[in-house]
Amino acid sequence: MKYRKIAALVLAMGMAVSMMMGCGASKPADSEGDTSASGSQSFTTVNEGVLTMATNAQFPPYEYYDGQEIVGIDAEIAKAVADKLGLELKIEDMEFNSIIGSVQSNKVDMGLAGMTVTDERKQSVNFTEPYATGIQSIIVKEGSDIKSVDDLEGKKIGVQLSTTGDIYAVEDYGAENVDEYNKGADAVQALITDKVDCVIIDNQPAKAFVADNKGLVILDTEYTTEDYAACLNKENEALLKAVDGAIKELKEDGTIQSILDKYISAE
Ligand code: ARG
Repeated sequence: MKYRKIAALVLAMGMAVSMMMGCGASKPADSEGDTSASGSQSFTTVNEGVLTMATNAQFPPYEYYDGQEIVGIDAEIAKAVADKLGLELKIEDMEFNSIIGSVQSNKVDMGLAGMTVTDERKQSVNFTEPYATGIQSIIVKEGSDIKSVDDLEGKKIGVQLSTTGDIYAVEDYGAENVDEYNKGADAVQALITDKVDCVIIDNQPAKAFVADNKGLVILDTEYTTEDYAACLNKENEALLKAVDGAIKELKEDGTIQSILDKYISAE
C-alpha cells in the first residue's frame, strides 16, 4: 500500500468485513514505505524514511557530477526539503526522458531536474510551486549566420531529448530539423563538430557549456521563459503538500535564493 488514503480505506473495509465475520480488527496491511513526518504532516514515500529523487545529472549548475557525487542547485534544494521533512535524501540519476515515468510508476517520490512546468506534463504528474526560472536560449558557434531566433528557419537544431527545447523546436521548425541527443553536452558536441547549426537549451547549462568550450556564444535573444518545479505522483497528494510546503518555507526564509546565488553568478 503506497497511500495512506487507500490504506485507510482498505483498513476500514477489512474491519467492516471482520466485524461482519465476528472476529477482531485485522492488522493493517500498509507496512511498506509508511512515513510520518514533522509536525502534523503525514505522508508516505516509496521507501520509508527516504525521499527518493529522480534527476538527470547532465544539467549544470542544477545537477551534475562532482567526482562520484551529484551536486548542484536541485541536489541542495532536495536535501533541504528532505531535512525539513525528516527524511534521508536519495538521488537517482537517469535519462531526462525517464523521470516522469518513474514518478508515475512510484519508482521514485519526486523528479527534480530543472524541469519546466508545462500543461502537457501536468496531465501526467503534479508540480509543486516553482522554485526557479529558466530561459530557453540558443547556442551557436562564433561567427554563425544565426544572429537571432528569427534566423532558425531551415537550420539544424540540436536539443536534449524530451526537454522543452526539444518540444518547442519540433513544434516551431519541424522534427526533420531537430536532432535529439540524450545529453545536453552531446548536443553541444554536435554543434562543435558542425553536425548541427545551433543548440536550444536552458540558459544556465548553456552558460556552463559555453564556458567549457571555446568558440561558442549564446545569442542575446531568448527563445522562451519558463518555471522550474518538482514533480510528484498525482495520487500522492499528501507528499505533494509536504514537499510544496517545504519549498514555500525555503523560499520565504531565503534558503533557495542563497542556493541559487551560490551556483549562479549575478549578471
Ligand atoms: N527545463 C527543460 C525541461 O524541463 C530541460 C530540463 C533538463 N534537465 C536535466 N536535468 N537534464 O524540459
